[in-house]
Amino acid sequence: MTSGPAATVAAGRRHVADQGAQWFRGCFGRAPQGVWLAPGRVNLVGEHTDYNNGFVLPFALGQGVAAAAARRDDDVLALRTRRDPSAAADIPLNRLRAGGVSARDGIPGWARYPAGVAWALLTAGHPVHGASLAIDSCLAGGAGLSSSAALECSVALTLTELTGVTVPRRELAALARRAENDFVGVPSGIMDQSASLLCEAGHALLLDCKSLAATQVPFDPAGAGLRVLVIDTRAKHELTDGEYGSRQAECAEAARRLGVPSLRAVTGADEVAALDDPVLQRRARHVVTDNERVLEVAALLRSSAGGDAFGEVGGLLTRSHVSLRDDFEVSWPEADVAVDVAVAAGALGARMTGGGFGGSAIALVPDSAAARVEEQIRAAYAGRGWAEPGFMTAVPSGAAERML
Ligand code: GLA
Repeated sequence: MTSGPAATVAAGRRHVADQGAQWFRGCFGRAPQGVWLAPGRVNLVGEHTDYNNGFVLPFALGQGVAAAAARRDDDVLALRTRRDPSAAADIPLNRLRAGGVSARDGIPGWARYPAGVAWALLTAGHPVHGASLAIDSCLAGGAGLSSSAALECSVALTLTELTGVTVPRRELAALARRAENDFVGVPSGIMDQSASLLCEAGHALLLDCKSLAATQVPFDPAGAGLRVLVIDTRAKHELTDGEYGSRQAECAEAARRLGVPSLRAVTGADEVAALDDPVLQRRARHVVTDNERVLEVAALLRSSAGGDAFGEVGGLLTRSHVSLRDDFEVSWPEADVAVDVAVAAGALGARMTGGGFGGSAIALVPDSAAARVEEQIRAAYAGRGWAEPGFMTAVPSGAAERML
C-alpha cells in the first residue's frame, strides 16, 4: 500500500468526491453520472504579475471543489451547494445564451460562477446540455486559495465532459477566467484557473502569462525534509472590493507612461526610475522585481531539484513579501506578523500568497521547525487578540480530474 503525502491527497479527494455524490443523491434523488474535482492553489511566487503579462509559479493543492453531475432533458442548469443548501438556482440555458452579463441578475452570488462558466462556453460556441450539479468542497472559501477558480474549473470540466466535447485545458482556463471577469464581474488574471487545470503533482507551474507557455518545474519540499506551511490568517479576502482593480489600473498607467505595452516589457528595476509618480514607481518596481524572482526561483528548483537551493528560494520568497508589503501595498497586518514570526522561528522564507488584503500566507519550513513556527505564530496572534490562525501543509498536487 502506498503512503505519504500523495496517498493522503488521493484519499482526501476521493472522500470529497464520495461526499459530493451523496449530496447529489440527496438533492436530485438519483445517482450522478460522474464527479469532477478541481483543486485550489498556492502561489509560490509571482504576485500581481499575471495581469501584467509576467510570470507566476503556483502549484495545485490536494484540496479542491467537487461537482457531482448528471445530464437533464429540459435545458436547465440546476445548481446546488452543500455549503448553502438554501441558495439553490435553476437557470434555463437559453437565458444565459441570450442575456450576456445581465443574465446574472437574480442568480445567487455563489451560483454566478458555475452559471458564468456555462455562459462562457456557450458564448465561445461550445454546446452545453442541461445538467444538475451538486457542489461540495474541502477548500476554505475566502482563504486566498482560489476556491472560486476551483469551482469554475470543476464546472468547466463537468459541463464539457457531460456534453461530450473536448476543449483543450488552456482554452478551458481562459473560458473560466472569462466567466469570472465578464459574468461575475471580478477582474482576476489567468493564474488561478491555469493552476487548477494544468498543474502536475510534485511540480510547480511556471506560466508565462504573455505567451501562455506552461512549464512544469520539479518541486518536492518533502523530499528535502521541508514543508510549505499554509497559514490561514483568518482575515477574509475579497477580490471584488476595488483595491485589486485599482492596482491593475495603476500598473496599466505605469506601463502607459513608460511607453510599453505592459510592465512585462520592463526588464530592469532601474528603468522604473523614469516614472516621476512615486506610487506608480513602487507598483512597477514590485512587478518587475517579482517577475525576476519567479525566474530565479524556477531556475533554483530546476538546478538541484530542491536540496541546497531551498535556502535561497526561501530568501526570495521573503523578499517577495517585503515588496508586496512596501511597494505594492497589498499585504495586511496578520500576514506581516505571520511572515516575520515564521522567519524568526526557523522558516527558510515566508510570504503572503494570492491577491492580498486577507487570506493566507505561506512559509517554507524545515520539518524540524514546523511545530515551533506554528506555536509562535499562534502565540503572536493570541497576544494581539486576533482570531486563532489555521495551519495546513500544502502538497504540490495534480490538476482537475474526473473522480467517479
Ligand atoms: C488573485 C487573482 C490572480 C492573481 C492574484 C495575484 O488570486 O485571481 O489572477 O492576479 O490575485 O497574484
